[in-house]
Amino acid sequence: MAIREIVLEGDNILRKKCKLIDKFDERLAMILDDMADTLKKSEGIGLAAPQIGILRRYAIVDMSDNGSNIVEIINPKIIERSGKQEDLEGCLSCPNEYGITLRPQKVKVKAQDRYGKEFVVEAEGLTARAFCHEIDHLDGILFKDKAKKILTPEELEEYIKNKNNK
Ligand code: CO
Repeated sequence: MAIREIVLEGDNILRKKCKLIDKFDERLAMILDDMADTLKKSEGIGLAAPQIGILRRYAIVDMSDNGSNIVEIINPKIIERSGKQEDLEGCLSCPNEYGITLRPQKVKVKAQDRYGKEFVVEAEGLTARAFCHEIDHLDGILFKDKAKKILTPEELEEYIKNKNNK
């Protein structure tokens, strides 16, 4: 297991469309393990393969808030969306930048696991947001492309303060 370097915005890799995975081998398993380590260390809630320089369709999402339930989604597709939520979003590839995005409140994602077995996972709220965000990465889309507004440091502080007061 190893910590991988996260590709930052400005690098073209983040703008490319990723290719499907057809080999569910040791190499894939090793990279997924590295991604989990990298995600835990960076305290993010999701990480997509292009963010570590790999142009393939897979990502991980932490469905807990402590790295104890990391779901691996390979060749993922959103098969159902419902509701709406508007909230703060950031990205490990865009450090210190946060924006307000509109996302579905609930999603159903169909994907394969590291052995190639298909499964469906449902998510709500923050986790639904994370699945959408990571799957966007696989098509070269960053949250900033979808953000209604990118917050200044002052606006961010204000936003967090108001949210905590609710
Ligand atoms: Co991201």
